[in-house]
Amino acid sequence: MTEKVFAHSLRHMDRARQVVPRGVTSAKRAGLRPTPLAFAGASGSRITDVDGNEYIDYVAGYGPMLLGHQPPSVIEAVRGQLAAGVLYGGQHEAEAELAERLVRLVPSAERILLNVTGSEAVQAALRIARAATGRKGIVKFEGHYHGWLDPVTANGPGSPAGSGAAPRPVVAEDHSEVGPHLLVCPWNDTAALADLLARHGAEVAAVIMEPVAVNGGNLFADDGYLAEARRLCDRYGCLLVFDEVVTGFRLGPGGAQQRLGVVPDLTVLAKALGSGFPISAVVGRAEAMRVAEGPVAHAGTYNGNALSVVAANATLDVLETERDTLYPRLERLSGELATGVNECADRRGVPLRAYRAGAVIRLHWGAPDPVRTYADVLAGRGEPLRELSENLVRNGVHARESGLWYVSAAHSDNDVARTLSAFDRALAETAE
Ligand SMILES: Cc1ncc(COP(=O)(O)O)c(C=O)c1O
Repeated sequence: MTEKVFAHSLRHMDRARQVVPRGVTSAKRAGLRPTPLAFAGASGSRITDVDGNEYIDYVAGYGPMLLGHQPPSVIEAVRGQLAAGVLYGGQHEAEAELAERLVRLVPSAERILLNVTGSEAVQAALRIARAATGRKGIVKFEGHYHGWLDPVTANGPGSPAGSGAAPRPVVAEDHSEVGPHLLVCPWNDTAALADLLARHGAEVAAVIMEPVAVNGGNLFADDGYLAEARRLCDRYGCLLVFDEVVTGFRLGPGGAQQRLGVVPDLTVLAKALGSGFPISAVVGRAEAMRVAEGPVAHAGTYNGNALSVVAANATLDVLETERDTLYPRLERLSGELATGVNECADRRGVPLRAYRAGAVIRLHWGAPDPVRTYADVLAGRGEPLRELSENLVRNGVHARESGLWYVSAAHSDNDVARTLSAFDRALAETAE
């Protein structure tokens, strides 16, 4: 292997740091080693940096590129729309088409509101829940991520695990304003949620969770947990909100809720919906969404912008028409990748495990096996994973230092085979 050179990325970062804090426009990108990379292009499963290094890409734009980079039908639809207009500040037919598609695909979707980012759609969902219930309280779970806006950024991934009864102490180390209405609960603990709602349920508008805790370790809940959360929300009159920003369309065309058979009141969708064009949605049961007909503030200059909407329609068209082949293939490739990674770790005696949910893989290094609690997840984060991601980059695999990998429909068998041999080298270098 020839040693990779990062001179142009380093030069770019030196320039950017003069005018952009840390040189990156989303703080989560600051940690990549040997340096945050600057890119020149991407196509299919590959991404190329400004030094001309090509990588097999598992960052996937932080998740949206479920169809890979530059999916032809999406790009073609957007090109066609460019000629017809970008932003009308009014309605267009593709919007209604998108809403109808979402109703068809997502079990909880009877009404649809569009936004641009996952973070703001989460805020819209919480506001709707507050208006629908006349309450203020929000329950969130340790280690779950719901975007960067207050108050749900508290107790996000990497924050210390609490102990004792729920609600757990609120941890907001990022200058976010939490206020008095946020309650934090350990996830996948039925007794803790039951106990919390028994004491505070009458004040709680929304219980929001990632239905598969992707950011909280990529863990599935125990059998029955989601159904019990549903039952408890009904009992106390709170709305159950699934944040399917990552799992939506990735775990299947109807997301985690379809796969796991539990239907929330409200769902937040983003990422894979737009194949990289910024779009998000709050969808929900008609009854829960009725308040959106009235005084609930929901707006946005770019909501329903024509480029993102046609990109979403073209994306969903592929997911719908190819669902019988696309999802089984994603499962197979992701499964082979996760199994290969685990075999590699076993062969080299490294305490690393890949946990997979559909086309999402998360690596844990040094965590108890099986990983069950948020404290276990924290034990598996840290320096070895960061070093591994640097060695992966040096071996031609672009992967996040958090160990969260996104597989796309553009990845091939050959990509997986090449990734596994690069992984083996990177693991050996890291374990040395
Ligand atoms: C589960 C989840 N919710 C919400 C968000 C926020 O979405 P955005 O970054 O588009 O604001 C993310 C982003 O990674 C996410 O993973």
